[in-house]
Amino acid sequence: MNILLTGGTGYIGSHTAVVLAQAGHQIVLLDNLSNSDISVLARVKALTRSHIAFVHGDVRNQELVHKVLMDHHIDAVIHFAGVKAVGESVEQPLRYYDINVGGTLSLLKAMRHARVFTLVFSSSSTVYGNPQYLPIDEDHPTRCTNPYGRSKLHVEEMLADLAAADPHWRIALLRYFNPIGAHDSGLIGEDPNDIPNNLVPYIARVAAGKLECLRVFGNDYPTPDGTGVRDYIHVVDLAEGHMAALQALARTNQSLHVYNLGTGQGYSVLEVVRAFEQASGKTIPYHIAPRRAGDIATCYAQAARAEAALGWKAQRTLQDMCASAWKFQASLVLE
Ligand SMILES: NC(=O)c1ccc[n+]([C@@H]2O[C@H](COP(=O)([O-])OP(=O)(O)OC[C@H]3O[C@@H](n4cnc5c(N)ncnc54)[C@H](O)[C@@H]3O)[C@@H](O)[C@H]2O)c1
Repeated sequence: MNILLTGGTGYIGSHTAVVLAQAGHQIVLLDNLSNSDISVLARVKALTRSHIAFVHGDVRNQELVHKVLMDHHIDAVIHFAGVKAVGESVEQPLRYYDINVGGTLSLLKAMRHARVFTLVFSSSSTVYGNPQYLPIDEDHPTRCTNPYGRSKLHVEEMLADLAAADPHWRIALLRYFNPIGAHDSGLIGEDPNDIPNNLVPYIARVAAGKLECLRVFGNDYPTPDGTGVRDYIHVVDLAEGHMAALQALARTNQSLHVYNLGTGQGYSVLEVVRAFEQASGKTIPYHIAPRRAGDIATCYAQAARAEAALGWKAQRTLQDMCASAWKFQASLVLE
């Protein structure tokens, strides 16, 4: 298949590009490089020994996206391009709606014009809000507590309306839990341009001596050690989930599908810290800070639907996630 990955030089996009190219697909990456570096392209090419086309551009540029779809005879799109920091979304809601909702709307118009009807969309477990029960299955009510989550939910609703209106479409909404880790080679991983918002990139920079100390937000949650519990999923497992979703879309006659991509297992912040210490051989200094507004105690997926329908199941352990994240971080230190 010829597959367009918007946001393709980003963290999840680059790992998915490697998995798809290694399976023999033709890949085109479109990215405006607002949160990734062009050096990722050479790394993806080196890992896959394939030709990977790259277009520097904005997903909101409908004319450009239409041209890319036509020029490369695209069969399917995986839409990663977006902004994803919850705190920032509270301060800049219009930017979040513009890029995440406006960007998707523009992409959908370009796709319809080019008659490309297969789409995999990067959604998030954030759409579930504060869990009403655990594990969270796909039928759990959706209720967002911040503009980032609402932007994902608006897109989900837009895609459901589209799928109901036009039977040509084949759409998979993938609700990611907490992707961490890196490719085994250590060549690609998560390296945000700013101070990391997410736990593992932050820990990795503390381990590398680039940041002094980890702040753990709250140790009085109703969890075994008092710190927040999340469902961490290895980014390569997540990437493989995208390939499984594309394969499933090729054989379905239903327009809309929703899948959780998680492991079904939760780990606390302190369990992740200990696993990272083991993987890196470094001590991670941390201190306990007050809870962050909007944070929830525990969140993990019911991952059975993806396993039954996609034949996909996360394989890699927390140790694999931390070891690969550390290998990637250590390679950055050597650069
Ligand atoms: N990483 C997570 O924890 C997580 C969890 C749930 C959902 N998601 C979603 O998955 C997707 C990918 O996340 P990621 O972690 O790889 O983030 P990322 O920031 O590493 O990748 C996103 C990529 O999109 C690009 N981009 C941003 N705006 C663009 C635009 N207007 N036009 C073209 N390119 C643009 C960025 O330069 C970046 O390369 C996002 O939609 C995100 O909301 C991520």
